Amino acid sequence: MVKSINSRDYNKWRSQFPQENSSIGFVPTMGALHQGHLYLVQQAKRQCSQVVISIFVNPRQFNDKNDLENYPVQLEEDFALLSKEGVDIVLVPSIQEIYPPNDTTSIDMTSYAHLAQGLEGDHRPGHFQGVVDVVSRLLTIVKPQKLYLGKKDYQQLNVLKAMVKKEKFALDVIGVPTQRASSGLALSSRNALLSEEGRVRASNIYEALQCAKASALHGEGLDMACAKGKAVLQAAEGVTEEYFLIANRHTMSINEVGNPEEWVVFCAAHVEGVRLIDNVEVFD
Ligand code: PAF
Repeated sequence: MVKSINSRDYNKWRSQFPQENSSIGFVPTMGALHQGHLYLVQQAKRQCSQVVISIFVNPRQFNDKNDLENYPVQLEEDFALLSKEGVDIVLVPSIQEIYPPNDTTSIDMTSYAHLAQGLEGDHRPGHFQGVVDVVSRLLTIVKPQKLYLGKKDYQQLNVLKAMVKKEKFALDVIGVPTQRASSGLALSSRNALLSEEGRVRASNIYEALQCAKASALHGEGLDMACAKGKAVLQAAEGVTEEYFLIANRHTMSINEVGNPEEWVVFCAAHVEGVRLIDNVEVFD
């Protein structure tokens, strides 16, 4: 059975591996694990001698109270899945361990604030501040050599790469491709909140992204690519678009997107009241 520990016990476990010789891969999560998370774990296992996963539903990154309250929590199922993957340690810190009441500090994001603007940054105010705060605190506890993050949260990946560099964490950030159901629906903890029919409807998000990508690859230009993708979404029953945009893969800018080689198509949409995000790189 997998060993679940708090940060004090983690420190004891961690002290047996000297920083200069250790090879610890870290997968931070908010639980409700699915095959996408397990794929991150599998990549980490391939490249590192120890794999640590954290489960912590981070209140600071939820701008919507209902979203936080509805976030699926299923620790027993998570532990069972991780046991099968042969994970070494599951860090399950308490809220006080991550945010001690006397510590009100936040990471200064000024030098990479542009990466956190637009897309999720505009639609979820304060979200990325919450993400960099929690991940920096987790990294300080875990002290990994490699950090594994999914490309489904593409903007988060870019923001966290910048945070790691700025805060001088000595580790590599590995962006792992999005895992999908056979329908194309990106695997996400939030899919657990959808009915069977909702999942079928939600797969139109991937259809729309693929349609925009095909258009971009045919050289039809950004406006046409977006228009074609949006048309697929609008025709899909029960899917409400929040945004459908093309941005530059490095800068996240939607105004200066560069060449199609640098384009990523992003979508946020609602199905059965559940907010879903996905993206595809035009050239992967
Ligand atoms: O991607 C997530 O699940 C979360 O944003 C993360 C990185 C675990 C931070 O809470």
